[in-house]
Amino acid sequence: METKLQGVLNSEIQSGSNANVPIEPVRAAFPALTRAPGFIFFDNAAGTQVPQIVLDAVNHHLLECNVQRGGRYAKSREVDATILRARRSVADLVNARDSSEIAFGMNATSFIRLVSLAIAQTIGKRNEIVVTDMDHEANVATWLALERNGARFLWWKVRDDGNLHVDDLIPLVSSKTRLVACTLASNAIGSIVDVAAAAKVAHAAGAEIFLDAVHYGPHGLIDVQAFDCGYLVCSGYKKLRLAPLSTKTSPEWMPQYVILKRSLRADPRKRCQGGFVCNRRSKPSEATKNRCRSKCFAS
Ligand SMILES: Cc1ncc(COP(=O)(O)O)c(C=O)c1O
Repeated sequence: METKLQGVLNSEIQSGSNANVPIEPVRAAFPALTRAPGFIFFDNAAGTQVPQIVLDAVNHHLLECNVQRGGRYAKSREVDATILRARRSVADLVNARDSSEIAFGMNATSFIRLVSLAIAQTIGKRNEIVVTDMDHEANVATWLALERNGARFLWWKVRDDGNLHVDDLIPLVSSKTRLVACTLASNAIGSIVDVAAAAKVAHAAGAEIFLDAVHYGPHGLIDVQAFDCGYLVCSGYKKLRLAPLSTKTSPEWMPQYVILKRSLRADPRKRCQGGFVCNRRSKPSEATKNRCRSKCFAS
């Protein structure tokens, strides 16, 4: 079996476009792979190995500029400039209109939760949220938790062909729909959803769409303007960044997750410090703002 598999892989490598991939320099970029020469890593869906260039950047930050942001001294300004550059490069990566649409934080699940808490405050008569049975639990359970805030849920279900069809979304959406939460790609079977069409349906009813690009991100190009999404979340640790070490780890030197709120143009640092979605539609009380501030882990 092993020999047969090896034969298949060899012929794939020789005949396919993979034949031209300079694999040795690629492996050499990853300390974990060079330290264990026989180690072939296939578990990247759960998180990727980290290249030296990322470790160097983190080392540089910790050794040279591990300071408070927003200060008037040179090191602090250097950190602010680095984060701005990171935001701009992520904006390019996902084709955002503006770098202020990008925020970094801990991980996808906590970002979905953060946004859901803000949306919970704006639930009124528009209290219906569409979730799918193809999504990762992170983009389902987080929304279901809003039941206590008066949200109602409608399920967009997978068909026998293993995908979500926009025709099935249409009857679920109405003037009561606040949000459609769906994935770009199934993390179980890889089906790719036509999210641009789903966004059209949501917007026609005055609703927003929240996209989970965690599984899709490492495999496909993200284009938030083409998707026309309100929010998109993606996990950087599946894209050659460091994984979160603890909830106390400073996100400033670990800009690994991104979330996007397209129509929001405020300074990302301020919007996060005040609880960034709360700022847009409702006027939160001082107590709410303080709660958001104490929970804030996005930069
Ligand atoms: C499709 C999808 N969404 C969300 C998540 C949760 O991501 P995170 O670990 O960044 O919270 C995962 C994790 O595997 C995933 O595959």
